[in-house]
Order: sequence, then structure tokens, then C-alpha cells
Amino acid sequence: MTRTADQDLSFGIATRAVHAGQSPEPLAGSVTLPIFQTSTYVQEGIGKNKGYDYARTVNPTRQALERNIAALEGGTHGLAFSSGMGAIHGVITLLSAGDHVVCGENVYGGTHRLMDKILSRLGLTFTFVDTREVDVVAAAVTPKTKMLFVETPTNPLMRLADLAALGDLAKSHGLVFVVDNTFATPIFQRPFEFGADVVLHSTTKYLNGHSDMVGGMVALRRDDLAERLQFIQKSVGAVPGPFDCWLALRGTKTLPLRMRQHDANGRRIAEWLAADPRVQAVFYPGLPSHPQHDLACRQMQGFGGMLSIETGSLERARRVVEGTKLFALAESLGGVESLIGHPATMTHAAVPPAMRQAMGLTDGLVRLSVGIEDSEDLIADLDRALGA
Ligand SMILES: Cc1ncc(COP(=O)(O)O)c(C=O)c1O
Repeated sequence: MTRTADQDLSFGIATRAVHAGQSPEPLAGSVTLPIFQTSTYVQEGIGKNKGYDYARTVNPTRQALERNIAALEGGTHGLAFSSGMGAIHGVITLLSAGDHVVCGENVYGGTHRLMDKILSRLGLTFTFVDTREVDVVAAAVTPKTKMLFVETPTNPLMRLADLAALGDLAKSHGLVFVVDNTFATPIFQRPFEFGADVVLHSTTKYLNGHSDMVGGMVALRRDDLAERLQFIQKSVGAVPGPFDCWLALRGTKTLPLRMRQHDANGRRIAEWLAADPRVQAVFYPGLPSHPQHDLACRQMQGFGGMLSIETGSLERARRVVEGTKLFALAESLGGVESLIGHPATMTHAAVPPAMRQAMGLTDGLVRLSVGIEDSEDLIADLDRALGA
């Protein structure tokens, strides 16, 4: 666990991205933080060391990443994990057998699988609800509920949760309010400002941004939760290696610039798709036709590059995802290159079909992660694939 410095939080977000946790290294003055590729550290005597004893517990490259991302979120503590799922697992194991979690029904498929297939075997219980409706969330809270877990915008239906209203609800019931901010990133959404206790990420996605590592991150503002999560992090050991931390840090330096371009391309492509009769529906919070566009404008500073389209059938979806050339058919999202995916058989295959159907995650749904290429080239690519 690494604390942010007051000075990190005094800067604007682009300055934090470049500088938080990244002062020149003292030995040679290397401007770029070294990769401390070590498993252990020499100790001067019993109980005498430089604050570093074993690399599962602490590593300087990892500390820099933890401080950097926590500062971007406006948190006071950061903890890095070996994947987004490792981060989510760590956060939920803050709870104990018998505790209950209210979770968004349209979270990432792997999050649902972890809760439904693994953690529920260990005595935790979960209720999955539509987090667009605050009343529905409130109705799911029981005396055993200890945590409220939401993604907004959701993956892949791009539904929003009202962070301020849910923050109030969580506070009034004493729940730990956890927000997966992977899609929006701290550039476009700052959950702590709406009452979140824990903000987490798959750093595999936008924060790294180059599709070359897998990682997870948790930012917190509460000392008690940060200390307990640090104990979990070192005990469970799902920590990232120093090279992956370094890659993620290189990514966060350009996060504000990249997000601007993802957002510009996302808006342009969403508008183009919305005007195309071959597409039955476009799910993108930046479109005025999105049912929660007003909420998006209130709690987000941009809408990013994630959007989904309804093509009408599995066969049409197959033709589109197999027909693009620039958009690569692949799992994952948030990299500089555009990706296309079919949630029902890829990212959300682990969600039971009846649940997918009930929430509108159809076999015709196609998800786009719009990259930072020229939007005209991306549109030409989609145009060709939709006509296939
Ligand atoms: C919103 C969201 N959260 C968490 C995860 C899990 O992250 P990872 O694949 O790094 O374990 C994903 C992965 O796609 C995701 O989309």
C-alpha cells in the first residue's frame, strides 16, 4: 500500500499523470523510474533495512504505480494487484462469511463469475440488481448487507449508476461503496467526489492503454480499509511484477491525452452509427438519445471510446465482428488500437443465458472499444463490415 503525498493532490490531473510517484531516481538521476526487478533486498542487520524486505510485500516500481494511480483518482492510498480480478477479489475479501453484497447485474462477466461461482461458496451472498434504479438498489439492502458494488458505465450495455444517489444510500446504511471505474477512468469520472470508499480498475485497459500487460488497482480514501486491504494484498500475494508496473506507469503518463482522442473518436463514431439504418440501436452515454444522457453530463467529464450496438441477430453480429479489418476481434478494451467483441460469447459468456436475456444483453450485441486512430478510417472499416 502506498500513500499519496499532499503535493501529488495539489496538481491538476495531467501533471499528476506525469509526476505523481515518479521523482528522478537518486543513484544516477534516471528521469524514468527504474524497474526494480528483484525478489528481495539486502538487510543491514536483524530488523534493520531500508523499508524494503521482500518483494511480494513491497517494491519501489509498484509503489510508484500505486501512488500515481491513487493520485489520479484523488485517493490517499493505492494498492496494485496482478489483474483487475485480483483487485476485485481483494476488495471483496474485506468481508466475512455471512456478509451480503448488492452488486450491479450488468458488471463485467468475470466479476459476476467470481461472486456467483467462487465467493458464494465461501459464505458470502450476492444480489444482482439494475443499478440504474436507486429504489431497486435500496430494496435489495438487508441487515446483512455490507457492500455496494457498481460499474458505471456498465460493460457492455453502457448503463449508468447515479453515483451521488448511491453514495448517499451506501452512507445511510453504512455500506462500503465500491466503484469499478475501468471504463470511464479518472479523466472522465471521479467516484470519490460522489462518496465512493473504494475505486478500482483493471489497469489492463485504459490506464495502461497499450494492450501489453495485465493488472489491477485499488484506490482508497479510508485508512482503515487501506490497512486491511494491504494485509490481504501481502497475505494473498496477487501482486503485479515490477515490469508490468513500469508498463502501466508509462501508460498513465499519456492517459489524459489518449482519453481525449478516445472520447473524440467515440462521439464521432456513435453519431455516425446512430444515423445508420443498418444499426438497430447504439448504446453510448454521450448521445443525447441515451436515456441517461443528463446523468452522464452531471457525473462525467467525457464519455470515452466504449460503445455497443444492436445488430439484430447472432448472424449479423458475426458478420460485423468478422468483417472489420482495423477493429480487431479480441477480448479486452481500452488500448490505443480499436477492438471489436461479441459480449454474449466472449466477455459475458460466463453470465447465465437467462440473466443475459433478462437484462437485454442479446446475441446481436456487438461491443466496440474505439481506439485513437483516424476516425474516418474507423468509420470506413465499420461501413464495410456492416455492409458485409
Ligand atoms: C470493467 C472491468 N472490470 C474488471 C475487469 C477484469 O480485469 P482483468 O482482466 O484485468 O482481470 C474487466 C476485464 O475486462 C473489466 O472490463
